[in-house]
Amino acid sequence: MFKSFIIGAVTFLGVAFSSHAMAGDIAFPADWKDWNSVSTTLTGIGALPGCDADVSSLPPIYQETVATYCAVKEGGPGAVAVLVNPADADAYKNRNGKFSDGPSMILHLKDMKILFVSGHAGGQAVYGVFTEDGKEITAPEGPLAASTCTNCHTGYTAFCLNGQCGTQNK
Ligand code: HEC
Repeated sequence: MFKSFIIGAVTFLGVAFSSHAMAGDIAFPADWKDWNSVSTTLTGIGALPGCDADVSSLPPIYQETVATYCAVKEGGPGAVAVLVNPADADAYKNRNGKFSDGPSMILHLKDMKILFVSGHAGGQAVYGVFTEDGKEITAPEGPLAASTCTNCHTGYTAFCLNGQCGTQNK
């Protein structure tokens, strides 16, 4: 009786843990094509380059971003766009961190047809990676892991605010 309870509890924890890691913390924004495209430092650069690009003139967080993603595709991830949920347009523009819960922002890797999605859950920044048609491809580790997103977006506290790293160009 006691033993089966322990096994049941362990199984339950195992399922809870793996479904958490696989399903991620963020819902796919099915209406992403209707979100507002904004211009930022990165969209001004236009693309995430390959590993041989000289990015020494960029701020350190951008250099680390290139180092993290330059090898995911030969020649680098390529063309990018930044999309903002219309409901979060003011929060993004004013950089006040007041995002509503749910998906908030997208870094669209256009050549790779991948969406890096940032959102908020209970006010906390959460991250996930999806294909354009909604398949979640957030990985347990490596460049596409939610922990990798968090480490950079939360780690650069002087640069990123409540999940938002970029600034909308005036
Ligand atoms: C090494 C640092 C780094 C890592 C790792 C990183 N990002 Fe970012 N991210 C940035 C920077 C810098 C920008 C701002 C680019 C700009 O100028 O628009 C950004 C922009 C974004 C944006 C557009 C909104 C914003 O915050 O400006 C989203 C969405 C985003 N990242 C999601 C993700 C997701 C999801 C992951 C993980 C799969 C991830 N990022 C990993 C540095 C990083």
